[in-house]
Amino acid sequence: MALDVNSAAGNGYSIKRLKLNQKPPSDVPIYIGRGIVHRGLQDFSLQSYTRRAILTDKNVFRHWPEKLSAILCDKDDLIIVIPPGENAKCLETLHNIWAVLLNYKFDRKSILINAGGGIVCDTGAFAAATYMRGIPFIQLPTTLLSQTDAAIGGKTGVNFGGLKNIIGVFAQPVAVVCDTEFLSTLPAREYRSGFAEIIKHSLIADAGMFRKLNTVDLNKLKETEIQKILIKSCEIKCKIVSSDFTEKGSRKLLNFGHTVGHALEMASGKTANPLLHGEAVAIGMIAEAKLSTLAGLLSRDELTKIEKIIASAQLPLRAPRRLLSGVMAGMEQDKKNERKKIKWVLLKSIGNAIFDSEQPKQLIKEALEYVLR
Ligand SMILES: NC(=O)c1ccc[n+]([C@@H]2O[C@H](COP(=O)([O-])OP(=O)(O)OC[C@H]3O[C@@H](n4cnc5c(N)ncnc54)[C@H](O)[C@@H]3O)[C@@H](O)[C@H]2O)c1
Ligand SMILES: [Zn+2]
Repeated sequence: MALDVNSAAGNGYSIKRLKLNQKPPSDVPIYIGRGIVHRGLQDFSLQSYTRRAILTDKNVFRHWPEKLSAILCDKDDLIIVIPPGENAKCLETLHNIWAVLLNYKFDRKSILINAGGGIVCDTGAFAAATYMRGIPFIQLPTTLLSQTDAAIGGKTGVNFGGLKNIIGVFAQPVAVVCDTEFLSTLPAREYRSGFAEIIKHSLIADAGMFRKLNTVDLNKLKETEIQKILIKSCEIKCKIVSSDFTEKGSRKLLNFGHTVGHALEMASGKTANPLLHGEAVAIGMIAEAKLSTLAGLLSRDELTKIEKIIASAQLPLRAPRRLLSGVMAGMEQDKKNERKKIKWVLLKSIGNAIFDSEQPKQLIKEALEYVLR
């Protein structure tokens, strides 16, 4: 994977190349900068494809109609708009995307550009990866969460049977273009949700980044600061993904907070107050850090530090007790489980995580009760 960074000064690019441990090897450039959509896309001569479609959602299109339309090259190009929200990450949406591509005669040399948050990126990438056994796609993430996490690393898919991301494939885009200008219209709650994954990256792999995050006010970042954080966060994710693309081992570390987080996201999704992905992950990280402490791995002092940074990002720390049974049921079907055993990602210290840990039921219950009160 290559990280093509539009420097904080606004001009000049630096490129980092990280090889993906994959056959055949593949390099995916990641562009990060403000107003860089066209700079990012011109490297991939969009005109050379037979057709172009932009997949986006209603909210993103409402805010950015001109910016998105300006990407297209031909009168036959399309903008496909799906409904916003986690419920749209489903087979029905996929069916509709495939049908449009087919009806408008998209062939294997056409390209799909996924312009939206994690929902559009995950669903669109899966649609592209499966249509005609795979057409090229570009990820154009428009939320903080998708710029720092969801658009990077080649995990694509949709929810099914009440479970998160249970149908999907690994597939790499032609490029990822993170234009921070999109973040200017992002609702504050959605913006905060992105910090959960940024904090997660520091917790599993980089104590220095965690210390730095503690020195800034996460909700009042300047453009240069947010770009620096994005670059660091993407570097961590790229490094982990590059060493284990299909998640046979160390990539599992990226699931920290997600065993509880995904179950909580799905359980709360059935209530009047659904949690956003990042919010559920924030609570999930506290539960899993607590489990790490109960298992004798993580110090209490570090658990407190983790709760503090999540609070300072104005993310939730707890969820209602009534979600407990739904969360337990969801965790039992977690993708990482083997022979019905939950495999945990736990922290030994901030910046140092382990995966595939099994824990006794009593400790798991205690950790869940710590966050579900
Ligand atoms: N594939 C992966 O590796 C990976 C990693 C992390 C998360 N995810 C997935 O990502 C999803 C969450 O992504 P998300 O938080 O981006 O959610 P999202 O796609 O639902 O976007 C959040 C909300 O913001 C709106 N929005 C998006 N961009 C906007 C903009 N620039 N201005 C105004 N509004 C905008 C959307 O319409 C939506 O209402 C979850 O389904 C999660 O499972 C995937
Ligand atoms: Zn996540």
